[in-house]
Amino acid sequence: MSADSYLRVQDLSVSYGAIRAVDGVSFDVPQGTAVALLGANGAGKSSLMAALLGLVKHRGTVTLDGRDLTGMRPERRAKAGLSSVPEGRQVFSRLSVRENLLMGAGLGSRSAEARLDDVLQRFPSIAGRLNESASLLSGGEQQMVAVGRALITEPKVLLMDEPSLGLAPLLIEEIFRVIAELRDAGTTILLVEQNAGLALDVADFAYVLRTGRLVVGGTAAEVAARTDIEDAYLGGVE
Ligand SMILES: Nc1ncnc2c1ncn2[C@@H]1O[C@H](COP(=O)(O)OP(=O)(O)OP(=O)(O)O)[C@@H](O)[C@H]1O
Ligand SMILES: [Mg+2]
Repeated sequence: MSADSYLRVQDLSVSYGAIRAVDGVSFDVPQGTAVALLGANGAGKSSLMAALLGLVKHRGTVTLDGRDLTGMRPERRAKAGLSSVPEGRQVFSRLSVRENLLMGAGLGSRSAEARLDDVLQRFPSIAGRLNESASLLSGGEQQMVAVGRALITEPKVLLMDEPSLGLAPLLIEEIFRVIAELRDAGTTILLVEQNAGLALDVADFAYVLRTGRLVVGGTAAEVAARTDIEDAYLGGVE
């Protein structure tokens, strides 16, 4: 199995009734790279993520590290190594920070405590707040909890859906610093973003999704140089 086909998405489509949200999308996420999936509002980014995770009905195939995930339920895809930081974080505000982090800890081979320690070393700002209710954390800290909850499963590929959404500029910088650190540490990342500038800075490869179809793909530098398609991923007039 070549490194190029670590996460392989082939001819993926998602429809909601008559609406085709994702239309025959194919791309690869090579092991140890960060791939950005860019697109304006409604381009189909979250639908694509949901299909990868097995959360919506879809056509096409998804393979991970040589395993065909097609037809698998979400829990089995998670076990196979896909873990996500959902859009809007979805941190459980009535649970403590520790409970939130350990939510994903049923998966993975090392002890939950060992994995929790690793996550806390990466996010020292939440390490001192383990027993607090997650509702007391700032938006940025909640985003760290959401990332930590996904990392604790030690996924083969970390999927992130618009991690910058709704965060103040300083916190956006912080979360992108974390993403860069994870990438440098060898984590394979699929990052969905409307914030093309930041995503292209941190990514190795990028694809632009427009009304359900991939219109541009290449190295992040190549895509960044394509000013002609800026409107497609920055949300300009179609
Ligand atoms: N559950 C649903 N039922 C019907 N249509 C849906 C549903 N979810 C999404 N859509 C439609 O599918 C298309 C793609 O939506 P999706 O949420 O995947 O886009 P997105 O790129 O994630 O957008 P955003 O940047 O706003 O998060 C849109 O036209 C949207 O209205
Ligand atoms: Mg979305």
